[in-house]
Parts: sequence; structure tokens; C-alpha cells
Amino acid sequence: MMMSSVSRSKIAWITGASSGIGRALALKLVGEGFRVAASARNADALAALASEAGDSILAYPLDITDRDAVKATAARIEADLGPIQWAVFSAGNYLRERPTAFDSEKLRQMVELNIVGTGHCLEAVIPSMVARGEGRIGLIASVSGYTGLPGGGIYGGSKSMLITLAEAMHPELAEKGVTLSIINPGFVKTPLTDKNDFPMPFLITAEEAADHIVHGMSKRRFEIAFPWQMVLILKLLRRLPYGLYFAITRKMLRKDR
Ligand SMILES: NC(=O)c1ccc[n+]([C@@H]2O[C@H](COP(=O)([O-])OP(=O)(O)OC[C@H]3O[C@@H](n4cnc5c(N)ncnc54)[C@H](OP(=O)(O)O)[C@@H]3O)[C@@H](O)[C@H]2O)c1
Repeated sequence: MMMSSVSRSKIAWITGASSGIGRALALKLVGEGFRVAASARNADALAALASEAGDSILAYPLDITDRDAVKATAARIEADLGPIQWAVFSAGNYLRERPTAFDSEKLRQMVELNIVGTGHCLEAVIPSMVARGEGRIGLIASVSGYTGLPGGGIYGGSKSMLITLAEAMHPELAEKGVTLSIINPGFVKTPLTDKNDFPMPFLITAEEAADHIVHGMSKRRFEIAFPWQMVLILKLLRRLPYGLYFAITRKMLRKDR
């Protein structure tokens, strides 16, 4: 495999590395010459991933909803491996809501994991990156964070928050040499979407997603969004007047809801 602009001694930290996009990204970064600290809750899955990559992937099991554990893990990675240069926060989950039987517990779970958990990770890496005047952070949000689609309110809402947060934080971090990128995938084939029983247009593989992420972060892009067809459709949809918008989203209502 051809090496890109990334040098061999770099250290990356990936959350959500036991599965899906995070796992594919960990393996892709090893191919790019990184040593990767891989976090998720499932220690066995991380150990299996590490064994695929010799000593290039090291397992740091972690629940990102535990603020103290996140801070301690980031500190341990830096003590063991050196400064974290790339951090990609992929840990997250997808829950659907049913508007007629709205369940605030699902909302709480989405907020605690997708928003606050990711916030714990940001908090854990920013100080040392700012002190060094360099670093790249990728937050995995989603194209569903662009606009509210039926069933996708609590998930998309959690991802909208990450998009807004990244937009707000980007300039000040950039001034300190730290690039904060927002990564907005469309449908990617992973255990998360394997549960879906509806059509997933423009579905791509986790390996393709990892290629997009590495390419975009190498170029210090702010938004890394893919595949382009899904991005275009949803960015156009959110600009429509509500009359037209709901005429389209009403067609997405499920028969079995
Ligand atoms: N697949 C898609 O189509 C798609 C589209 C847009 C955005 N995304 C986003 O991409 C990210 C990765 O999704 P994926 O499709 O790769 O899903 P996935 O295969 O289900 O992976 C999710 C990862 O998050 C980890 N995780 C979940 N809860 C955690 C916690 N409390 N602490 C630490 N790790 C935790 C899981 O590992 P453990 O269970 O071992 O903890 C797993 O490694 C998510 O943020 C998702 O919202 C996915």
C-alpha cells in the first residue's frame, strides 16, 4: 500500500474501534503508518483487532460515558505511546423514536452517548493538543444531523449537536494549530445498519468510509461528508420550504410504525 503524507511515528486514538467504521479506520491507519490506540467497551473484540495488526494496534477498553475513565485512558495512551496526533471519535449508537409512543429514555441514551460521551473524549484530548500546537480531531456525526427525518429525530438531533459544536469550536482550535473535522457519513454497511429493515440508498462499505475519513483528515478538511449523492439530497432537502419538505418526508413514514 502506498504511504500518504502521514509519517510512521504518528499516534491515533479511535473510539468505537471494536466494530464498523471505527474498526475499519483503525486498520486503515495502520496501513498509513500509525500506531493506533483502539477503544470501545468490548475488550475481546479489541483484542481480536489488535491481534490482526501485530503491535500496531493497542487495546484500551473504555466506556465513553464515564468521564473519569475517558480522561484516564487518554492520559494512559499518551504515557504509553506518546502524544495523540489524530483522534477520531466513532463510538455511538442509533435508536429510532416512535412519535406516537415517545420514549424520553431513548432520548437520554442518545444524548448521553452520542453527545456527552463524545464531549468527554474532546475534553480529554484538547488540552495536550493545544499545548503542543498541533493535532487533528474527527467527530463522527451523520448526514442525518442535517435535518429531521421521520424516526430519526433523537439520533439526528444528537448528530446535529455535534455538527453545531464542531462549527462553533473549529476557528478557535484552528488558531491553536488543532484541526477539528466533522465527519458526516450516509449509509455505511456495519453492525449498526445491519439492523435496519428499510432501503438504504447509496450504501457504502466501512472500508470506503475509512478511506474518505483518512483522505479528508489528511487534507485538514472541516467537513468530511460521503457518499456525495446522500449529502446532496439531504442538503437540498433541508433548504426546502416546510410545505414541500413535509410532502416529501411524509412519504418516508413506515407502514408498521
Ligand atoms: N453505519 C452508518 O450508516 C452510519 C452513518 C452515519 C453515522 N454513523 C456513525 O458512525 C459511528 C460508528 O457507527 P458504526 O456504523 O460503525 O456502528 P457500530 O458498528 O455499531 O460501531 C459502534 C461502535 O461504538 C462503540 N460504542 C458504543 N457505545 C460505546 C460506549 N458507551 N463506549 C465506548 N464505545 C462505545 C461500539 O463498541 P462496544 O459495543 O464494544 O462499546 C462500536 O465499536 C457512530 O457514531 C454512528 O452514529 C454511522
